[in-house]
Amino acid sequence: MGVMEHRAFERDGTPERDDTPVHWGRYELWDVLGRGGAATVVRALAPPSADRPEVVALKFLHRSLVDDPKAAAAFRAEAALGMLLRHPNIVRTYDLEHHDGRSAIVMEYVDGRPLHTFHHPALFPAPEHEPYMVAALIAQTCDALHALHTVRGADGSARRVVHRDVTPQNILVRRDGVVKLLDYGVFFSPDRGFHTTAGFLKGKVPYLAPEYIDSRPWDHRVDVWAAGVIAWEFLTGKRLFRGESPGRTMVAVRRALIPDPSSLRPELSPRLAAVVMRALERNIARRYRSAHEFAVALREVIGAEYGVVDPETLSDWADGREPRAASGVMRVARSLSPPGESAERDTLSFHSKLTGT
Ligand SMILES: Nc1ncnc2c1ncn2[C@@H]1O[C@H](COP(=O)(O)OP(=O)(O)O)[C@@H](O)[C@H]1O
Ligand SMILES: [Mg+2]
Repeated sequence: MGVMEHRAFERDGTPERDDTPVHWGRYELWDVLGRGGAATVVRALAPPSADRPEVVALKFLHRSLVDDPKAAAAFRAEAALGMLLRHPNIVRTYDLEHHDGRSAIVMEYVDGRPLHTFHHPALFPAPEHEPYMVAALIAQTCDALHALHTVRGADGSARRVVHRDVTPQNILVRRDGVVKLLDYGVFFSPDRGFHTTAGFLKGKVPYLAPEYIDSRPWDHRVDVWAAGVIAWEFLTGKRLFRGESPGRTMVAVRRALIPDPSSLRPELSPRLAAVVMRALERNIARRYRSAHEFAVALREVIGAEYGVVDPETLSDWADGREPRAASGVMRVARSLSPPGESAERDTLSFHSKLTGT
């Protein structure tokens, strides 16, 4: 912990004076931004380059997975897909770099927080978020998903990519209120084949679509479902599907009644509630046909019921300045779960894992 403090960086990215930099190849490693099931993401200073910012995010596959051929192939595929994607709501991927027996995906660094840090489970059922902000954030997420679903390969052919892991952890909200979708670690594309252990479900169970759990035919609409679950949870301040075990959660996803969000939050616009419920249609034929359709429906409701959501409002929210009353809960949520999970901000211990020292 002492080392962690020693390595601290000021908010504006200036290193403290007594800091000794830790390097990986040409990159100077700063702090750990987050960890997921597959990787650790580190903020780093990149060598000068004309086509990318100085501060980047490096995604390192966990050491335990480096020698796993499937995990390594999936990691390369993730990097290759990332490099095809250019969209304002998708984290930009610049490169895949190798050094010292390790590989890292070089990404745009996003100064913001993953969506799950906005609603800490310890505080459920609070906080409730302003409906128009939830709608605006999910609409941006859907824009990103649509770009992903319709991405074409370098040869111009449709890749028919499905994200499969649309969760609050994988949606970053930048300080200025811009959503950045990330993590293509378990994406599926028919031309890529399955790098999947038989019987293993990709993605996080509470956000998996019923048809996927049932091994019925599924497509990009599993991501629309996941966006619907997230919208429902942020409108009500409650978890939609949560069992005592993953098995129980799966049963809930397949069969549990999905309450209309306005039944839990009476002041909610019934029209907005209905828009979200259509993303949560278990019958795929009745669900939105695309993430784009869901985004359009959300924006129609915002326009009709709430007026314009300006970037300033989203930025206040993303930065922890609740633009309206009832801000106390938001602040508590923030202090419980600071950006990057402070306990993990230890570049040195990460570095020793990286180098095995
Ligand atoms: N480009 C980035 N900028 C800032 N933080 C990031 C970035 N990429 C990832 N993170 C943080 O790191 C966490 C893990 O990254 P992710 O790509 O989701 O890894 P995994 O595939 O292991 O889930 C994210 O939830 C997020 O908090
Ligand atoms: Mg992730």
